[in-house]
Amino acid sequence: MTLRHTMVVAGARPNFIKVAPIVSELERRCLPTYLLHTGQHYSTDMSDSIFRDLGMRAPDHNLEVGSGTHAQQTARIMESFERVLVSVRPQHLVVVGDVNSTLACALVASKLREELGVRIAHVEAGLRSRNWTMPEEINRVLTDRLSDLLLTPSMDATANLIAEGISEENITFVGNIMIDTLYLRLAVAKGIDMPARLGVHSKPYAVVTLHRPSNVDAPEKLRAVLEGLQSIVRDAAVVFPMHPRTRRRLTEFGLENHLSGLTVTGPLGYLEMLSLMDGARVVLTDSGGVQEETTVLGVPCVTLRQETERPATLQHGTNRMAPWPLSAAGIAAVFHEAMNTRRLALGERVPEGWDGRARERIVDALAARAT
Ligand code: UD1
Repeated sequence: MTLRHTMVVAGARPNFIKVAPIVSELERRCLPTYLLHTGQHYSTDMSDSIFRDLGMRAPDHNLEVGSGTHAQQTARIMESFERVLVSVRPQHLVVVGDVNSTLACALVASKLREELGVRIAHVEAGLRSRNWTMPEEINRVLTDRLSDLLLTPSMDATANLIAEGISEENITFVGNIMIDTLYLRLAVAKGIDMPARLGVHSKPYAVVTLHRPSNVDAPEKLRAVLEGLQSIVRDAAVVFPMHPRTRRRLTEFGLENHLSGLTVTGPLGYLEMLSLMDGARVVLTDSGGVQEETTVLGVPCVTLRQETERPATLQHGTNRMAPWPLSAAGIAAVFHEAMNTRRLALGERVPEGWDGRARERIVDALAARAT
């Protein structure tokens, strides 16, 4: 009997960081693995350079769907993905996170579940912001409903799924896969010394990431955050690696003059960003992954959102929420609070299962369900 593939899907920057250790663990155990890139992210700095930084092999196939509205992007992925799924006929489809690629592929596989005998595993299942205006919340909840195996990163995620009536036998707590990548790449990242490269190594500096539509797609909201950054630049250097969505909006709204005094770069590679976060006094972000990475690094983090689907980073980590709605004064106040907090040592206080061994538990869970 030929062993059927495990197909692993990735589409956007945060997905690559999650699938890299899963693919390498599957291949270490000599399990046939098919890596599919949807092409949701395609620019060199959003895709190729991340693959390089992670030491990840090239995908077996790239659907090259590119950008578009949510419906266009999701529909394009679904149409192209169906053809590949039918031809590969994997035993397991592994989807990660909460981006459009995650939901699109899970939805296709769920309609072909019986015909192809494919089982869907969702890595990072059970996170909930309970904010239905976020596309990611829609993607998460629906992907969880469609999945056969729900692999959770934290105990709160397991509790969310049980509260939603998902059978406990379909849920396995595996811990946080992003942290595997962090531990695997930290030494190399430190060697890059990004703070020195950007000339911010000799003073305390903050790192900012911002890309949520709820923060950057409305001019008054984006302006409030930029004014907040202007007010902290007196006390610390501010490094702002800018996501392409944010760059586009800033130009559209004529807000470029609000960047004076900040160190602005394009999107950074994984290693560059890790090196920069590791040396930071404070990180301000609306990204989910950054809340988790700062927790493990022990760096104080301020989350620029109304809520977080990662409450474990508030309870066991270094994260705190900015006062909502975001304002210049609120951002300045919470930044100073964070600045006066002690930095923790690597892994000093982290949620259970954020230990760098999630990939082993994920592949164990898949193997336990192999037929
Ligand atoms: C997507 C995810 C979000 C994730 C983020 C990480 C969804 C719904 N959103 O948001 O959860 O946190 O990725 O980056 O899936 N663009 C480029 N080059 C690229 C990709 C995008 O220039 O390689 C520009 C395009 O102008 C595009 C815009 O960025 O329209 C937004 O890209 P898109 O993939 O639609 O969403 P993100 O904002 O990146």
